[in-house]
Amino acid sequence: MKQVQVLDKTFTTYITKVEISERINAIAKELNERYSHKKPMFIAVLNGAFLFASEIFAQFEHPAEISFVKVASYHGTESSGELKTLIGLNSAIHGRDLIIIEDIIDTGKTFHELLPNIHAQNPASIAIVSLLVKPEALKYPVKADYVGFEIPNKFVVGYGLDYDGYGRNLPEIYQIVSE
Ligand code: IMP
Ligand code: MG
Repeated sequence: MKQVQVLDKTFTTYITKVEISERINAIAKELNERYSHKKPMFIAVLNGAFLFASEIFAQFEHPAEISFVKVASYHGTESSGELKTLIGLNSAIHGRDLIIIEDIIDTGKTFHELLPNIHAQNPASIAIVSLLVKPEALKYPVKADYVGFEIPNKFVVGYGLDYDGYGRNLPEIYQIVSE
């Protein structure tokens, strides 16, 4: 078990690079089958999902577009409960098959606020892909269609996920040792 320090907190290896790659390959395969006759629009939720989204998107074998939204709701290791839209969706999504890519579903607040706006623009379909889900932390009825890993309600960093901006470049996913 490897330990790393991010700012004032200590984290330990939790999901390895190999395990992450295997799940990404499996999810990409499912998306390649399901959308083989569509031209989906991937929507990556920044910042956390950027690495995950880039690998999923790079493995997609059919015509597709990608767009980005940026929201922020976290301060330190606690969800602030308030969602700010920093970059809105500026692509036309009416009639499109959307594949929304998120790093983690924690309370579900991000999707709870994001989805009505997206639904209002009448896309043809919406699929939610989340690398991680914390089922015990869920406060809103949000369900991902494709999940990398279900994890306990403990703070994690790495592979795009941050603690106060740091730790995103760790190649594996690390779990906090004590909060
Ligand atoms: P939700 O809106 O409560 O579902 O939280 C989703 C967002 O909170 C994610 O997109 C992450 O940016 C952030 N988040 C939730 N849990 C963690 C964590 O364990 N580590 C890092 N970021 C997290
Ligand atoms: Mg995020």
